Amino acid sequence: MEIYLKTWPEVEKYLKKKKTLIFPVGSSEQHGPTGIIGIDFLTAWEIAKAVGERAQIMVASPMPYGMAEHHMAFPGTGSLSPLTYIQVMTELLQSYIHHGFEKIIVINGHGGNIAPLTSAFSQILGRQGKTHLELINWWHLPEVTEYEQKVFKDENGFHATCGEISVTMKTHPQAYLKPRPYRHFKTASKSAWPLSGAQFRKTFPDGRMGSRASLASLRHGEVIFEKAVAAIQRKLGPK
Ligand code: NI
Repeated sequence: MEIYLKTWPEVEKYLKKKKTLIFPVGSSEQHGPTGIIGIDFLTAWEIAKAVGERAQIMVASPMPYGMAEHHMAFPGTGSLSPLTYIQVMTELLQSYIHHGFEKIIVINGHGGNIAPLTSAFSQILGRQGKTHLELINWWHLPEVTEYEQKVFKDENGFHATCGEISVTMKTHPQAYLKPRPYRHFKTASKSAWPLSGAQFRKTFPDGRMGSRASLASLRHGEVIFEKAVAAIQRKLGPK
């Protein structure tokens, strides 16, 4: 159901029957010494594709960059400033609204996107009343957090979490074939927020926030992925 694999007549035909679109968004940013840079958009994208397939809802091309200013002291991170991100997301969402999509479910994989996405929604909704925009932060779904709390306890952490690393071990196992060096130390778990890139790196020197990254596993990834997909599908209601 990915829109980027369809033609325009196929999208036009879909719009005659349905007006819903799933839009996966994330970030390309450091995820500690063992998690891959793409975690936030890859998790959102794979979950979105599975939900789209099961619910027969079209899925937009993913937005792989997000507001990741606080990760900029780690190489490999690509970031948009909050104002730019709001503008980009506003215009992309408006493109789909322009074509006739009336309900857009944004599946998000990155905490730093929540505030600017909410602002983009306000920007769009402020002067019209027809569109329904919904933000789903997949890692906040109760079905996901309950499982993570059960298996990772307080060591799931807040960034480069065991849960999100596990999900990419399931979706992109080829990226985890070679074990990476990891020396565990307890990081700060809370901090004043937001932080600059330099402040973040000083507070969280290897990029993790409170996670014991070695607890991540393919098996947990399979369970968490399935829980997230099923929970979102339930939220969307019957076909
Ligand atoms: Ni992440």
